[in-house]
Amino acid sequence: MPNKVPLPVVIEPLLANDPDLDAINAIGEASFSSGTRMDAREEISRPFTHAWVARLPGTRARGTPVGYLVTWHVADELHILNVATSSTHRRRGVGLALMETGLAYARERKVRLIVLEVRLGNQPAVQLYRSMGFFAIGLRPGYYSDNGEDALEMVMVLDPETGQIVPGRDEVRL
Ligand SMILES: CC(C)(COP(=O)(O)OP(=O)(O)OC[C@H]1O[C@@H](n2cnc3c(N)ncnc32)[C@H](O)[C@@H]1OP(=O)(O)O)[C@@H](O)C(=O)NCCC(=O)NCCS
Repeated sequence: MPNKVPLPVVIEPLLANDPDLDAINAIGEASFSSGTRMDAREEISRPFTHAWVARLPGTRARGTPVGYLVTWHVADELHILNVATSSTHRRRGVGLALMETGLAYARERKVRLIVLEVRLGNQPAVQLYRSMGFFAIGLRPGYYSDNGEDALEMVMVLDPETGQIVPGRDEVRL
């Protein structure tokens, strides 16, 4: 069990003119293999993309980016595309804080379903999602072209009126 103090990050919407987009892409490059990595600059130009950056207040006026979350909001569904924390700041609550920001957005916009795919072997991410109430509904064999790894499909169902998480159960044995 980690014994670290959570980082006091500030989470803000990530905008197209953010001067830290290169630093944010660098977190992605260090976190994902080429098959699942995205260009934040290109991604946030899409009208249905909603993204956030976690910044650590410090000597820089804007704070240092230490993580980001990119989602697509289409109709009553929010798709989690990428969430990443810089490798030196992991396990200190940044990923959870970003995902909770996405969840708050989903509740505000009366989203019914939050969906994502994750590599079956990505234990940190699978644990993060499960700890929030996502459950596993399916496997996509060989989904990731770089190494042929299976994708686990996970969902969180929300009651759009109350924002409450609707309990579900795994359809896939983990
Ligand atoms: C997945 C990831 C975003 C988690 O970010 P993080 O800032 O380290 O996560 P947090 O500190 O907020 O952890 C929240 C919970 O997630 C789970 N978790 C996170 N890292 C874990 C690990 N290495 N092992 C097991 N559980 C882990 C735990 O339940 C943790 O709660 P706890 O620390 O109280 O036990 C981070 O590991 C990462 O950037 N990985 C590379 C990119 C990636 O794979 N993204 C997901 C696919 S899109």
